[in-house]
Amino acid sequence: MDRRTLVITGASDGIGAAAARQLTGQGLRLLLVGRSPEKTAAVAQETGAEHFVADFARLEDVRRLAAELSAATAEHGIDVLANNAGGIFGDRTPTADGFEKTFQVNHLAPFLLTHLLLPRLLPGGASVVNTSSVAHRLFGHLDLEDLDNARRYRPRKAYGDAKLANVLFTRSLHAKFHDQGLSSAAFHPGLVRSSFSAGSASSMRWFYHSPLARLAPMISPEQGGATLAWFLTGVPGSTWTSGRYYDQDRPTARVNPQADDLALAEGLWQRSAELVGLPGTC
Ligand SMILES: NC(=O)c1ccc[n+]([C@@H]2O[C@H](COP(=O)([O-])OP(=O)(O)OC[C@H]3O[C@@H](n4cnc5c(N)ncnc54)[C@H](OP(=O)(O)O)[C@@H]3O)[C@@H](O)[C@H]2O)c1
Repeated sequence: MDRRTLVITGASDGIGAAAARQLTGQGLRLLLVGRSPEKTAAVAQETGAEHFVADFARLEDVRRLAAELSAATAEHGIDVLANNAGGIFGDRTPTADGFEKTFQVNHLAPFLLTHLLLPRLLPGGASVVNTSSVAHRLFGHLDLEDLDNARRYRPRKAYGDAKLANVLFTRSLHAKFHDQGLSSAAFHPGLVRSSFSAGSASSMRWFYHSPLARLAPMISPEQGGATLAWFLTGVPGSTWTSGRYYDQDRPTARVNPQADDLALAEGLWQRSAELVGLPGTC
């Protein structure tokens, strides 16, 4: 029997690396993606996985990554794609492509990667699992005319918007492709004591990395990784429901009101396609 093929982005650290370690030795083919070549190679060596490097702040890197992953999976396709890379960043920084970095790394890059991998995802009825965050509900409010938060930038708001975009992308993937066999879910992994927000200028960095943060009710990367691994090894329609948002492994209706706005989801899809140069997407 063919080995199931899993692609995990953000696999060089935190939740993604922990999930990769937990999935090792289960007869799966793991393709790990990270930004840092050294960190990604180290996790790959530890887990015996294949590894790929791309900086999501460069869409050129994402296109190259998609080509490399497509070549590596030409024979058997991809069974599961985990769009897990992401984070909150500091001052408003434009990427090489001219977009605000939080929006690009957390949303535009995985949006583009998923599209470019559709020929490997659709034939086998793959799952696409998106690591979102409770921040989508707490801080997100999307404006299709200002997706880049050019008017008034706050790191937390930019992060909340990007994580809300992850939920809307999940809804759209389900609406557009579930009848072709593709399933998608988004989830909040919990408050995880990882490298998350280490490079951010926001209050989130204080929350996660000050000495007092030890008092906060946080979970380990292994616990966060276990939730990701649960989605990646789960059976859509049985373990989890396509199109839904989960708080860890529990489906929840506690979402941002905009998360149920299907017109917004479609608007975001079309706008994102234009921004990354994918004209005429369905
Ligand atoms: N930690 C939490 O409490 C929490 C809560 C809710 C949601 N999340 C979400 O969970 C996901 C994983 O976060 P984590 O907690 O595991 O954080 P982490 O330890 O900081 O790991 C983040 C991962 O994303 C990768 N990444 C960051 N910027 C990138 C870029 N420009 N291009 C490509 N990859 C990039 C990192 O790569 P390198 O290490 O190679 O730079 C790393 O593998 C993120 O989407 C985050 O938003 C985390």
